Amino acid sequence: MAVERTLSIIKPDATRRNLTGKIVAKFEDAGLRIVASRRIRLSKGQAEAFYGVHRERPFFKSLVEFMTSGPVVVQVLEGENAIAKNREVMGATNPANAAPGTIRKDFAESIEANSVHGSDAAETAANEIHFFFSDLDIHS
Ligand code: CMP
Repeated sequence: MAVERTLSIIKPDATRRNLTGKIVAKFEDAGLRIVASRRIRLSKGQAEAFYGVHRERPFFKSLVEFMTSGPVVVQVLEGENAIAKNREVMGATNPANAAPGTIRKDFAESIEANSVHGSDAAETAANEIHFFFSDLDIHS
């Protein structure tokens, strides 16, 4: 297995409820290392661009409103098989389908306010990391 990097976003529903530390603990307990981290407020343009692949979906407008409704924590996670491991730790997109002990099972409020985002594949991970971070911001 290769050491990979993936992008994580702790979403506004989770920052609002002061869950950042509990979510980070789940990443670290799974062996993922936080190699970059920043708390920011997304602009409408940034949220629209980041989720551009979903532009035609019925939930797009609401998703952009939600993602700009409060601060988010963008992070680069690093570790063996990090992309798949992060998706395992997050659980299914819809918390109703998420496995016990996953972030979304424990913390998500709904399919939209689902507490975390994680890159879904190697190419997406590289693009999403560079959406927020330069290589100079990342420290293993
Ligand atoms: P995320 O993994 O960040 O990717 C797209 C986001 O759209 C998703 O998590 C949810 O926050 C949101 N979303 C809202 N409704 C849906 C839906 N029906 N299917 C998938 N994602 C949805």
